[in-house]
Amino acid sequence: MTFQVTVSPSGHHFDCNSDETILAAALRANVGLPHGCKNGACGACKGKILTGQTVLGKHQEKTLTADEAQQGLSLFCCTTPLSDVTIEVREVEVGEFPSKKLPTRVAKIEKLSHDVMQIDLQLPATEKFAYRAGQYIEFLLRDGKRRSYSMANAPHTSDQISLHIRHMPGGLFTDQVFSTMKERDILRIEGPQGTFFLREESDKPIVLLASGTGFAPIKALIEHAIEQKMTRPMTLYWGGRRPADLYMHRLCLDWAASVPGFRYIPVISDALPEDNWSGRTGFVHRAVLDDFSDLSGTQVYACGAPIVVDSAKRDFVGTAGLPAEEFYADSFISEADLA
Ligand code: FES
Repeated sequence: MTFQVTVSPSGHHFDCNSDETILAAALRANVGLPHGCKNGACGACKGKILTGQTVLGKHQEKTLTADEAQQGLSLFCCTTPLSDVTIEVREVEVGEFPSKKLPTRVAKIEKLSHDVMQIDLQLPATEKFAYRAGQYIEFLLRDGKRRSYSMANAPHTSDQISLHIRHMPGGLFTDQVFSTMKERDILRIEGPQGTFFLREESDKPIVLLASGTGFAPIKALIEHAIEQKMTRPMTLYWGGRRPADLYMHRLCLDWAASVPGFRYIPVISDALPEDNWSGRTGFVHRAVLDDFSDLSGTQVYACGAPIVVDSAKRDFVGTAGLPAEEFYADSFISEADLA
C-alpha cells in the first residue's frame, strides 16, 4: 500500500510504501530530509509527525527519548506510514548530488598511525561522483552488510576520495583493510550520503569537534571552508587518547599558522609519561566548554564516537546555550555495533 507524506513547512510531498521508511521514500523522491546513520543511532533524522499514523521501528533508545516520542517526535529512518502523514522537518538541499552505486578501485593504502589507515579510491572515469564535504559513502560488502565512512577530503582536492579507517580487531571489514586489501582491489560503494556539511548561509563562528577518526569529515569541511575563502572564525578541537591518535596533527598546526581565523586545540585524555604531552588534557568536549561558556552565537560541527557526540550535544545545548538546531553531528558506529 502507498501513502502520501507531506513535509511542512515546504509543502513538498512524496509517495511512501507501507513497508519503506519515510526517509528512504524521501531520498528516492529527492526530498532532502536530514539524515546520518540511517539505522536509528544518530538522531539526525528526527522530526515531528503532525498528522497521520506511523510505526516506529527498531532504534537506539537514547536517540529518541520517551518524552520526545510523547511530543510526537520520530526518527524518519525507522518510521513507516500507516496512513497519509504530514511531518515537520527542516529540509536540506540534496538534489544536486544523488546517491548511486559505483565500483571503485583502491588507488593507494597508507598507514597514518598504528591503527588508522587511509585508503584512496579511484572513481570510474565514466561516472561523475559529486558530493559535499562532510558526506559519507557506504561499502557494499559481499555478505550484504554495509560499512559507512566519511570522505576525508573536500571534493575540489582530488578526483579520488580518501577515507580514514580505524582498525577494529575482529571486525570483518577493517581486518581486511589492515591485512589483505591491496592497491587495485575493486570495492563497491553507494553514496554520497548524509547531511553533515557546512551551512554556508550562516555567518556564525564555527566550532569543530572531532574524536579519533571523526576527524575525517571535519578535515573535509575545513578544506572546503578554506577553498571558499570563508571568513568565519573556526576553532578545531581534536581529541584522542594519546598524541599518536591525532594522526594529522601537523596538518592542523599548519592550518593554524596559515589560515586566518583558524585555531587548533588538540586534547589528549590518556597521555603516558613517555608521550611528553604538554597540551590540553581531558575529554575533548569539556575543553570546548572550558573555552566557550556561551555557545549561543556559534554553530557546532561534531563527529566521532557516539559517547563524545552525545555528551557534547547534551552539555553544549544544556549548559552553554547552543541552539539545538545549530548542533550538526555525524556519530559513527563501529563494526562491533553493527555485528
Ligand atoms: S537516527 Fe535516523 S539517520 Fe541516524
